[in-house]
Amino acid sequence: MRWMQAATVIDDPVGPYRSVERRGRKVHGTDGRDPGCWVLANMVSGLDGSVAVGGRVGALSSPTDAELFRTLRSVADVVLVGAETVRREKYGPVRLPDGLRAERAAAGRAAVPRLAIVSRSLQLDWDAPVFTEADPASATIVVTCAAAPRAQLDEAGRHAVVLLAGDERVEPRAALAALAGLGSEVVLCEGGPTLLGELVAADLLDELCLTIEPVMGGDPLPVAITPASAALVRHRIAHVLVDGDTIFLRYEREDR
Ligand SMILES: NC(=O)c1ccc[n+]([C@@H]2O[C@H](COP(=O)([O-])OP(=O)(O)OC[C@H]3O[C@@H](n4cnc5c(N)ncnc54)[C@H](OP(=O)(O)O)[C@@H]3O)[C@@H](O)[C@H]2O)c1
Repeated sequence: MRWMQAATVIDDPVGPYRSVERRGRKVHGTDGRDPGCWVLANMVSGLDGSVAVGGRVGALSSPTDAELFRTLRSVADVVLVGAETVRREKYGPVRLPDGLRAERAAAGRAAVPRLAIVSRSLQLDWDAPVFTEADPASATIVVTCAAAPRAQLDEAGRHAVVLLAGDERVEPRAALAALAGLGSEVVLCEGGPTLLGELVAADLLDELCLTIEPVMGGDPLPVAITPASAALVRHRIAHVLVDGDTIFLRYEREDR
């Protein structure tokens, strides 16, 4: 047991996240199969573990957490998100400040990461900016399964890059392998809890960035919802940062 006391003051609160080496990092699941990309998740919760207030995340996030949100997007090749989060948060295409776009371009990467939406129902608004305003080099991806409604599947093909990854449902490992096949080395999952729980249950999450805001009383919706049969997955702490009363935790899967 150690006291965590105020220690080194850092000028750049997101620097410790940017400096993590994720590209080309060897990743083996416990079953020895490698989806071919590093998978990190970024979530913010209250002290009670709630990740939404009135169905939205906005009330939970602080300015530093918002900066972290942008920073983690800037290190990713793909932002993976569940359809319910897209519907509730009215997701748009990924946008980054000019400085971060230029940094990515200088490193030979697309100016912004692509958004990849996981959905079986394909109940998505095809006229929304998330499809119509995406950077042409980073067109929005829809990851779905063979059981998706035929008419919706045809519609999806007119507005997005469609990846089929599974029969009755999207198989997380197949989805990540398909994204890796498009050249994605770093996949950032922005939730929601259902999608994140699927990645955890399949033992595919390499890194979790979890911001704890000093509030209680949000929706009864935890950071991740895993199926009842899922095994416990252990992580080790990589860093703890404190900004005011907010705690920034970064964990990596124990064997990474
Ligand atoms: N605090 C945070 O950091 C944070 C982050 C993200 C979201 N949130 C909050 O979380 C809530 C939404 O989360 P949620 O857990 O309800 O939903 P979600 O994970 O965003 O999306 C669930 C949906 O994704 C699709 N999906 C997920 N896994 C699938 C699979 N294996 N195969 C096929 N489709 C799959 C399905 O879409 P279809 O229904 O279209 O088939 C499913 O209904 C919102 O209130 C949002 O504000 C909070």
